[in-house]
Amino acid sequence: MKSPVNVVVTGACGNIAYAIVMMIAQGQMLGTDQPINLRLLDLPAFEAALEGVKMELVDGAYPLLREIVCTSDYATAFEQADIALLIGAKPRGPGMDRSDLLKANASIFAGQGQALDKHARRNVKVLVVGNPANTNAYIAARNAPSLSPSCFHAMTRLDHNRAVGQVATHLNVPCDRVKNIIIWGNHSNSMHPDLSHASVTHYPEPGMITPAVAALNDPKWISETFVNTVALRGGAIIKARGKSSAASAAQAAVHHVRDWVLGTPKGEWVAMSVPSDGSYGVPKDLVFSFPCRASNGVYEIVQGLRIDETTKAKIQVNIDELLKEKQEAGY
Ligand code: NAD
Ligand code: LMR
Repeated sequence: MKSPVNVVVTGACGNIAYAIVMMIAQGQMLGTDQPINLRLLDLPAFEAALEGVKMELVDGAYPLLREIVCTSDYATAFEQADIALLIGAKPRGPGMDRSDLLKANASIFAGQGQALDKHARRNVKVLVVGNPANTNAYIAARNAPSLSPSCFHAMTRLDHNRAVGQVATHLNVPCDRVKNIIIWGNHSNSMHPDLSHASVTHYPEPGMITPAVAALNDPKWISETFVNTVALRGGAIIKARGKSSAASAAQAAVHHVRDWVLGTPKGEWVAMSVPSDGSYGVPKDLVFSFPCRASNGVYEIVQGLRIDETTKAKIQVNIDELLKEKQEAGY
């Protein structure tokens, strides 16, 4: 039996956390042979509610769960952390942009970056979910000078999954047949979902692989309906539900960490927001969504993909937006 890994979930009384802790406990994130110590962090005012989450985890009788620690203390939460899901932050409401949350949320990620720097394992894997996720991840990394920036990712896997869902629904195929979608940029309305390297397996006949653009055969649907549906989906869910996405966000966070830790399938990439190394002209250290592969716990940005003029222009829009957010946050 493997030794337990320490998994921190912040915002553990919130909507996303309520879905994700059960998925983690089931082994969906780290594998069904990996025991887990869960550290649940929320604000002091939520202590009683946090105990309720713990009771439900105990009552779920999950064989992989070892310790369950409920705390509002950063040092207790992040001590020897192997994985940290930084979810706890204010969500936006109707009519807001994610960047409107910068003022309210930036200080959370500065403090948690400092705590990770002090207490976490040196190879900790941190996924920032709280919005604006890319800039929050940048802030956390900047506040953790003794950790490699590569420890800090932000979540654009939900945008990737949304793009897969749109293509699969349009073609009436199961989602797992849609491969190698790219999300470029920021988890904001400016993100660029790119199908130019995507393919659909077993389409139109079993055994065949068809480029997604050819399978869809509808440039207007791709450049307008598809791109806008994916980019604006978060707002559409808030409008419909009255609160932001939760179950799909939890599923995306599980997918991101699972692929980072256990590896992406052979020949495939996924969307991860990671600190730029200068790839595709993105300034170094901006946390930017790229096509990424991972194996043995190490990710890499997929290099050398041909990008068209529209994509180049959209990458620049996202660079400018992230530079502006960074400056507004005082970095
Ligand atoms: P929520 O309001 O239901 O829960 C947030 C929780 O975080 C609350 O329990 C709150 O007490 C806690 N919290 C606040 N500050 C904290 C701190 N300093 N330390 C620990 N906990 C703290 O919100 P939610 O629906 O779970 O969403 C959480 C965040 O995730 C929001 O910012 C939302 O916009 C974002 N989000 C991102 C994505 C993405 O794709 N990146 C998707 C969905 C939601
Ligand atoms: C989402 O994309 O669903 C989240 O980022 C929540 C939001 O504010 O849109």
